[in-house]
Amino acid sequence: MAILVTGGAGYIGTHTLVELSAAGYKSVILDNLSNSSPLALERVKKITGDDYKFYKADISDRAIYKKIFEENDIEACIHFAGLKSVSESVSFPLYYFQNNIVGSLVLIEELFKRNVKKMIFSSSATVYGEPAFVPITERCPKGEIPSPYGKTKSMIEEMLIDISKADKEFALVILRYFNPIGAHESGLIGEDPNEIPNNLMPYITQVAVGKLPRLRVFGNDYKTKDGSGVRDYIHVTDLADGHVMALQKMKKGVSIYNLGTGNGTSVLEMVKAFENVSGVNVPYYVTDRRPGDVGECYCSAEKAKKELGWRAVRDIQKMCEDAWNWQKNNPNGYS
Ligand code: NAD
Ligand code: WQD
Repeated sequence: MAILVTGGAGYIGTHTLVELSAAGYKSVILDNLSNSSPLALERVKKITGDDYKFYKADISDRAIYKKIFEENDIEACIHFAGLKSVSESVSFPLYYFQNNIVGSLVLIEELFKRNVKKMIFSSSATVYGEPAFVPITERCPKGEIPSPYGKTKSMIEEMLIDISKADKEFALVILRYFNPIGAHESGLIGEDPNEIPNNLMPYITQVAVGKLPRLRVFGNDYKTKDGSGVRDYIHVTDLADGHVMALQKMKKGVSIYNLGTGNGTSVLEMVKAFENVSGVNVPYYVTDRRPGDVGECYCSAEKAKKELGWRAVRDIQKMCEDAWNWQKNNPNGYS
């Protein structure tokens, strides 16, 4: 029996492959490499010593499922595949709706056709919009979602929930990630953004390695501890472990979990923590707030702890250490 991992060549996918192997699962990968490199999968093999069947195809390519199911015995799917740039989705909403929503629809149909009714779906804290309260629990209502990207996550959630209402055999786990950062401690796999990063940690590491001159801090007038934005950063390996635990505890019906640490860290605290760990100065300047950003976003991860027995164990220092180790060893990512 094997797990079909869509988007398995990507940042979170590769780290999850490692943890799945460690837990004794066999994975089969479906990825069109639109935002990833085949080298990432070679690195995963190096870490785990396992071999993986890899299908380079789009999740909306119906023909590929025939081949995958003929060649493998799939028991469940972890569905990471999707486009994830907030800014790109504002410019190209149709592309995002097509890729993420239509792709997910085809995937679910093809799985159901073969009676595979276990799925873990990668959702995001972005579905909470401007949170009604913090720490955010799973009961927090969804908010106004500022980007087409975020809307695809919310719409896919709704779609899957409706499907599960109609089919009681469906075991669906929706994982809402907070802010994944860091890298595998080997330094062999990590986050490899195309062009200039949008996200804070890869921006910091690229400043530290000399690829970018300085960090822009988007706003210092939020109602937060020091005025800069506060987020719940989570080590990508902890996040990957959350998937393994969710797989082990899967049950029929819908289960929704926040995956975060429950702690809020500000932009300025993150810069300090990174400088302390790396010994490298990160020059920055404060500029306007970034449109669509919220001041504060961190979760209560109590539900995942209680029901899955999962909690994040790696702290901000470890996140910075591993992000830096990856960036230093791979200044140009996988290229
Ligand atoms: P990523 O871009 O590194 O990985 C996504 C992978 O999916 C890539 O390898 C890409 O090539 C593949 N892909 C995209 N569209 C595809 C398609 N149509 N068919 C086949 N493969 C396709 O992103 P990631 O950071 O690893 O994110 C994984 C998932 O988690 C995404 O769904 C993302 O929206 C979600 N998520 C990410 C974050 C984050 O901050 N990284 C936060 C919350 C949720
Ligand atoms: C974190 C903090 C910024 C860059 C995004 C998506 C979300 C999810 C995770 C997928 C904020 C500040 C950032 C910079 C800065 N992805 N910042 N200078 O916006 O919380 O979440 O990634 O689902 O959907 O929206 O993460 O890392 O971009 O920002 O000051 O150059 O860092 O303002 O306070 P965000 P981020």
